[in-house]
Amino acid sequence: MAPRAQHCAIWFGTPGTREQAMFAAIGWPLRLARAEAARQVGMRGGDLVVAVVDLRDADAAHIEALETALAEHADLPTLALVDADTGEDPARQHLLSLCHARLLAPFDAGRLEAALASLLSSPRRDIASIGGQSPAMLGVRALLHRYADVELPVLITGESGTGKELAARALHDLSSRRGKPFVAMNCGAISPTLVQSELFGHERGAFTGAATRRMGLFESADGGTVFLDEIGDLPLDAQTNLLRVLQEGTVERVGSSHAIRVDVRVLAATHVDLEAAIAAGRFRQDLYYRLDVLRLQLPPLRARGDDVELLARQFLDTFRTGHAVQARGFSAAARQCLRRHAWPGNVRELLNRVRRAAVVAEHALIEPADLQLGGATPQVVALDAHRDRTERDALVDALRATGCNVSASARRLRVSRVTIYRLCRKHGVSLEAFR
Ligand SMILES: Nc1ncnc2c1ncn2[C@@H]1O[C@H](COP(=O)(O)OP(=O)(O)OP(=O)(O)O)[C@@H](O)[C@H]1O
Ligand SMILES: [Mg+2]
Repeated sequence: MAPRAQHCAIWFGTPGTREQAMFAAIGWPLRLARAEAARQVGMRGGDLVVAVVDLRDADAAHIEALETALAEHADLPTLALVDADTGEDPARQHLLSLCHARLLAPFDAGRLEAALASLLSSPRRDIASIGGQSPAMLGVRALLHRYADVELPVLITGESGTGKELAARALHDLSSRRGKPFVAMNCGAISPTLVQSELFGHERGAFTGAATRRMGLFESADGGTVFLDEIGDLPLDAQTNLLRVLQEGTVERVGSSHAIRVDVRVLAATHVDLEAAIAAGRFRQDLYYRLDVLRLQLPPLRARGDDVELLARQFLDTFRTGHAVQARGFSAAARQCLRRHAWPGNVRELLNRVRRAAVVAEHALIEPADLQLGGATPQVVALDAHRDRTERDALVDALRATGCNVSASARRLRVSRVTIYRLCRKHGVSLEAFR
């Protein structure tokens, strides 16, 4: 793999904690320098370095020190952070004229990243698809950058709809494996009898119906990334073979004992507690330790503060570019409902509610009724979410244990067959997938 170009920003002065978090979130190491002692800044040859000067509260003495510091580093591209009103002061204006770009406060991580990237005129390593500026999400984005090029598995955890798949894609796109395949498989959506051959391939005649030799997912992702979603649903025999991939870097096709070398990075996601699955004998402990080297925990949407409104706005704007709808924004009451709702379905629920509201809203501002929000209290919704999850898990377990026999599953769960069909519809579980 080609080594990644080192880049870093040198901040002349003292950044606040939020600014430090933003630099970490966009994967830019930040080094601090005192403007008065700029000569102490050491740089390695080949590094891509950008200087950052904060002119927002700079007094005359600091401006003079900054000017001297920039003169020492005239070759450095420099980004100035400014207020809307930069003032008339000639010394400040002169310093500004020495800077190569300016960024207007208040700014977010996305605009900071764009400004820094434009200074280096390098293509942006884009994870802008992951919206959010809350401290929790800045932390997630910082980890994405930190983990991207480490050749170790990442275990991505988080409730349903928190963006686990999005994060897996971002890890791939940020890594030097981008340009090679990113292959995702939902371990819970595929029949246990087919999992082995899906993942590892099979030889001709390996089992009834194997008319031709087939390459598995791992082989087809060679050089790239395999994302195993709902890893907790992987059957035990496939877990053993996955362990071999992680330990030895080889796969064996079903029906063959010939080891084929594969170069893949494994990312895995789960919304179930794998430690509980280990205790229940459904998950191999040694595999868990292999997978859980780097952990990325996606926070539930209710822990992301103002991100709810920010994402709602973003989803509405995106929807409006493709659809002619009346809605242009959210009423104050709707914004309040967005803030108060518990979001059991997390970002996916928000996205769906916003899209539906955009379609049904008859006025320029979306109201609580359009979002179908306003009734339930957050506690009730949160409890319902837990019930739903347990219900879905029980359904999937029953279908799996009975080889997708609807009558046997119904007996096992002590419900009617009709209820099994209804639950499948409710939870989006396809019976076909288990057959
Ligand atoms: N931070 C975010 N910014 C913008 N869109 C997001 C964000 N997080 C998630 N989404 C969107 O929300 C939807 C759900 O995300 P995703 O499928 O990655 O979640 P998940 O955690 O894998 O869910 P599940 O557990 O149900 O598989 C997707 O449409 C995704 O694009
Ligand atoms: Mg997913």
